Amino acid sequence: MIKIAPSILSADFANLERDIRRIHTADYVHVDVMDGQFVPNITIGVPVVKCIRPTTDLPLDVHLMIDRPVRYVEQFCDAGADIVTCHVEADTEENISAALRAIRAKGKKAGVVVKPKTPGSAVLPFIDLCDMILVMTVEPGFGGQKFMGDMMPKVQEIRRYIDALRPGCDLEVDGGVDTATAPICIAAGANVLVAGSAVYKADDIPAKIRALRGQ
Ligand code: DX5
Ligand code: ZN
Repeated sequence: MIKIAPSILSADFANLERDIRRIHTADYVHVDVMDGQFVPNITIGVPVVKCIRPTTDLPLDVHLMIDRPVRYVEQFCDAGADIVTCHVEADTEENISAALRAIRAKGKKAGVVVKPKTPGSAVLPFIDLCDMILVMTVEPGFGGQKFMGDMMPKVQEIRRYIDALRPGCDLEVDGGVDTATAPICIAAGANVLVAGSAVYKADDIPAKIRALRGQ
């Protein structure tokens, strides 16, 4: 089954509760955390995750675009994150593994993310600790960018790793996903689609979420 994770980066931050209720037919709420260091943008942090937690029953899928995430993963778990993903580029292999173990020790789901220039094989040292692997289909930092179709061989490669080594692990794509590019991602093996602008620009959000699922 295809799961849809609307990114609240495209929501109205002055009306976040309203905009989270608008996506109640989705599967996850995707929360983009940016620190102005790992990526050239600053978005939201632990206090916002804590405030949005009671507004929805959907799992919070927290995408950490921050340097050295091991410093903060426990705080995001305590604030109510259900899935926490860390970029493999954001620290040493040892520290990323420590971050994933800390997330799992909190009883939450852990995962790694790869930027467009990072090879698919970079997930292999972490795969045993992963409940989700996220492949970026834009350079992380901003919503509304153009989908990078040339990431699909990497999605296929990681699908092969998951099927061989970690069945049941989610394979998520993030960036430029809309009703035109979603089927391409699904064909390549993704089963979770993040969509920010495509969802929040839609007049009928539940219909857009169904369309993204291919229904
Ligand atoms: C980009 C973020 C994405 C972004 C997706 O760094 O990780 O989640 O919000 O937005 P769209 O779907 O508009 O590309
Ligand atoms: Zn994201």
